[in-house]
Amino acid sequence: MVKIIGPSKPIFIGGAVVALLMLWTFSAFPSFQNMLDVAKMTISPEKDGASAIGCPIVSDQGVNLGHDPVDQTFYDDPTLSYSMGNPMKDWDKKRREWLNHHPSFANGAEDRIFVVTGSQAGPCKNPIGDNLLLRLFKNKVDYCRIHGYDIFYNNVFLHPKMVNVWVKLPVLRATMLAHPEAEWIFWVDADAVFTDMDLSRRWRSIRTITSWCTGGAPSGYWDDFVDKFDTITDNYARIEKGVTELQRRHAEKVSEHYAAVMREAFFNKGGDGGGGKRPFVTHFMACKPCSGVHWGYTDEACWNGMEKALNFADNQVLRNYGFVRPDLLNISSLYSLPFGFSSYSKEK
Ligand SMILES: *[C@@H]1O[C@H](CO)[C@@H](O)[C@H](O)[C@H]1NC(C)=O
Repeated sequence: MVKIIGPSKPIFIGGAVVALLMLWTFSAFPSFQNMLDVAKMTISPEKDGASAIGCPIVSDQGVNLGHDPVDQTFYDDPTLSYSMGNPMKDWDKKRREWLNHHPSFANGAEDRIFVVTGSQAGPCKNPIGDNLLLRLFKNKVDYCRIHGYDIFYNNVFLHPKMVNVWVKLPVLRATMLAHPEAEWIFWVDADAVFTDMDLSRRWRSIRTITSWCTGGAPSGYWDDFVDKFDTITDNYARIEKGVTELQRRHAEKVSEHYAAVMREAFFNKGGDGGGGKRPFVTHFMACKPCSGVHWGYTDEACWNGMEKALNFADNQVLRNYGFVRPDLLNISSLYSLPFGFSSYSKEK
């Protein structure tokens, strides 16, 4: 069901030699096919100034946000354009020079991920559209915060002729120039929900990305998953009950440690146990939250499906704040987690 159309087809944005775009698609709807795109840049810490210490570190991510020396970089080139159709030459080299002048960013530059998403500028036609968009964005903000990724929400057309599925290209192009510190630029459609908050990978190779989307961790075509969220929840609760460490309270910042423990327990305790694995991303293909258009599905199927996916994902976040929502279709249902309890458990 998951069809990869990207890896063998690198797309060079405006002639730039750096951006490999992977386009993942989930069904035959041509204008909504690309839920996630990843653009890869190439930098290595040894070559790019990671060892050039000597500059004060001011932010909590270990990067210096207040340092921009007068040395000329690509930003000072008067012909620089953020628009499509203006090829960027020698981007790797220009980016490397920028990193040399900003050594605090060179550390970890090879793994740095930047997430881009967006929606239209105006209000939604669908009466619940703006609320859904807000919660869809919250889901992405939660995911990014947990894994330490930056995120940009774009709500303008950066190119008058690039609409629909093409809208992301000018955004990715501009983001590339705005964020030379990022190695990966990761586009996520507004109507896609991260439904496995644990899953992250410091993507190192295209092969890894490919296996990540096709094998080890499936992304979901929403129709297949929505009805399974309850049994998936039970499955994770069962696994958690058998591993004391997973019932331990912890700071949200160290979530990736518990994600690793869960991942190991998941595979050690008999795979998915029949209950299923959380899909990494559930894409609400054919349900447009803002316009309210839904092809081939009822209103109820679309919006209840989204409600369920959003609450399923949010439960994984809320556990770190001491709460869980027992009813995935009721956003107001909530109870606090007793000490030492499986945080996925629906028992009181
Ligand atoms: C949703 O949960 C709240 C709080 O538990 C409850 O008061 C309300 O009746 C529930 N709504 C529905 C439709 O079940």
